[in-house]
Amino acid sequence: MALRYSREVTTPGNERTSDVARLEDGDDVGRVIVSADELQSRIAELGAAITADYVGRAPLLVGVLKGAFMFMSDLSRAIALPSEVDFMAVSSYGSATRTSGVVRIVKDLDVDLVDRDVLVVEDIVDSGLTLSYLQRYLLARRPASLEVCALLVKEGQQRTALDLRYVGFTIPADFVIGYGLDVAERYRNLAAIHVYDGPTP
Ligand code: IMP
Ligand code: MG
Repeated sequence: MALRYSREVTTPGNERTSDVARLEDGDDVGRVIVSADELQSRIAELGAAITADYVGRAPLLVGVLKGAFMFMSDLSRAIALPSEVDFMAVSSYGSATRTSGVVRIVKDLDVDLVDRDVLVVEDIVDSGLTLSYLQRYLLARRPASLEVCALLVKEGQQRTALDLRYVGFTIPADFVIGYGLDVAERYRNLAAIHVYDGPTP
């Protein structure tokens, strides 16, 4: 598949793929965990599965900002159904690379969830505490259904039982950046998911 928005290059003698942001940012950007091509083909599969599951309905995709903005953009185009999108912004208290599970709603939804088929679109599930909080928060608004599509799940890190209907990739527990994911607001514009090799912010 042609990826018009990304420019992937391979550095000679270095198996890591790169793109514009990586070339500018240097060594903080580690090896590729999920390439841009792998992201796009898996998102096409997720979109097809969601399309089949929700046929006859018009799901409301709820993206969790900021990390899910890129995934939401690609996933929404892979779902061949009438649908709507809305966004929430949350911030979890705690250090930059560890969540505390105490979530603050920075931007709430604009639409009423009553009787809607809500699909939460998340970038990454680590401890699962953010998502667990969000699920309770959204269920209280009485949607017809509430499911989750998470692009990434960190293996063995979940501290709470979660029902994740759609998962893109299960990855090792390293801190990762790119394709929406940041460290201190940097690197969201990388086309692939990389390990973060920089200093702890
Ligand atoms: P959880 O509550 O521990 O599941 O953390 C979820 C949130 O923490 C995600 O939505 C991200 O915003 C952030 N997060 C967790 N792991 C990473 C990572 O490896 N890179 C970037 N952000 C992460
Ligand atoms: Mg997030």
